[in-house]
Amino acid sequence: MIRKAACWLAGFEFVFLATVGLGAPLSKPADQRSLKYLLANVGPQPSLGLAPGVVIAGTTKAHPDYFYHWVRDAALVMNVVGRMANHAPAQRRRYDDLLAGFAAFSRKNQETPTFTGLGEPKFYVTGKAYLEPWGRPQNDGPALRASTFIRWATRLLDEGRCGEVVPNLYDAKLPSDSLIKRDLEFVAHHWRESCFDLWEEINGTHFYTRLAQRRALVDGAVLADRLGDGAAATFYREQAATITLDLKRFWNPSRKVIMPTLDRTGGIEYKDSDLDTSVLLAIIHSGEDRGDWSPSDPRVQSTLNALVEKFRTIYKVNDNGQTGVALGRYPEDRYDGVGTGSEGNPWFLTTLSAAELLYRSASREAAEGGDARAVKLRRRDADSFMTRALAHAGSDGRMAEQFNRYTGLEQGAKNLTWSFAAHVSAALSRDGYN
Ligand code: NOJ
Ligand code: NOJ
Repeated sequence: MIRKAACWLAGFEFVFLATVGLGAPLSKPADQRSLKYLLANVGPQPSLGLAPGVVIAGTTKAHPDYFYHWVRDAALVMNVVGRMANHAPAQRRRYDDLLAGFAAFSRKNQETPTFTGLGEPKFYVTGKAYLEPWGRPQNDGPALRASTFIRWATRLLDEGRCGEVVPNLYDAKLPSDSLIKRDLEFVAHHWRESCFDLWEEINGTHFYTRLAQRRALVDGAVLADRLGDGAAATFYREQAATITLDLKRFWNPSRKVIMPTLDRTGGIEYKDSDLDTSVLLAIIHSGEDRGDWSPSDPRVQSTLNALVEKFRTIYKVNDNGQTGVALGRYPEDRYDGVGTGSEGNPWFLTTLSAAELLYRSASREAAEGGDARAVKLRRRDADSFMTRALAHAGSDGRMAEQFNRYTGLEQGAKNLTWSFAAHVSAALSRDGYN
C-alpha cells in the first residue's frame, strides 16, 4: 500500500520534458535507414527466430558468430530505442513494446544460472547461458542495462504508468527480484571487483566500466528516491561518491590521456599504448553533460586528440585525403573481426563515437554562450567523423563491425546492431536530442 502510494506520487513529481521546438528526430534518410536496420535485429523477429526482447549483436552466424544476445550491446542498443521513444511520440507504443520484451528477457537472463552471476556477458538467443571459455565477468553489462531501464522507467512514471514500473522494473524489497534494483544492488556491492573490459580482452579496472557503474548508481538513486526507497538511494549515492574519487586515478598527467585500464591482472599481453577509444565511449554512454567527464572536459578532449593523431598515422585508409579520421579500438589491436592473429581495423562505432562526442561538446559550448565560430568548427569536425564512418557503409547503408584499414571495405560481423545504434545516437546528438 505504501509502495503503491509512493509510486502514484512519483508520477506527479516531474513533468515530462517533451522536446518542444525540435522537429521529428532523425532528419536524414541515412539516419532512418540505420534505425530500420537496428530494429531488424531486435526481437520479436520471427524470420530470424528471435523471441521478444532478444537483441542479436550481428546477423553473421559463423566466422564470426555474433548471433548471440550480449548484455552490453543489447543495453546500448535498447537505450537508443528508449531515446527514440522519448522523442518520437507517434512511434512510442511500438518502442515501448520492444522495451517491455527486452525487460522480460533481461529478467530471465538475471535468473539464469551462469558462471559469474550478473556479470555474465553473453547468452544464446534462446536465453540459455553461454558456458564456453570467455572473458568473464564483464561488469559494465548490469550497469548499462540498469541505466537503459532507469531512463525508460523514468518516462513511464512521468506518464503516470506506475503499474508498469512497480514491481517488475523496480521494487524496494530486499533481496531484490525486480530488474533494475537487482542490477543496482549488484553494481553497488561489486563495483570494486576486477573484471574484463568492454572489448572482452583484459582483466583489470576499466574507465569504461567505472563510469558506467557510477552513472547507474547516480541515476538509480534518483529513481529509488522517487519510489520511496530512500535508504537504497543513500547507499547508491555513497557508492557513486566513492567511485567519483576513484575516477581521478585514470587521468595520466604526463601523457595527457585518460587511461583505459588500471590494476591489470590478466588477459592479452600486447596492449601498452594506453590509448583506447573505450574512453570516448565511456563519456558518451555514461559521462556528464558538463564539467568533469563530459565531452568538453579538457582531459577528454586531450585524449580524443591523442587518439586521432595515432590512428591517422597507423591506418592506411586515413591517407586517402577523405575527410575525417577513421578510428579503431586501440593501436595494438589484432582482432580483424574473426580472429586475433592479424591486424585490427577502424570500427564504425568508434569512429561515430568521436562524432557524437564533438556534437555534444559543441552543443554545450553553444548553450554556455561560447564563441559561435568555435562552435561551428567543432560541429564541422564532428560531421567529418560522421561522414567518414558512413562513407565505408555498404551502398544500402548497412554497416559491419569494422572496415579494412587498407581498402576501407566492410569487415567482420555483418549488420552489427551496435554500429547502427552508434549512428542513430550520434544523429540524435547532432540534432539536439538527449
Ligand atoms: C572476441 C571479442 O568479442 C573481441 O572483442 C576480442 O578482440 C576477440 N574475441 C579476441 O579476444
Ligand atoms: C566484440 C566487441 O569487442 C565487444 O565489445 C562486443 O560486445 C562484441 N564484439 C559483440 O558485438
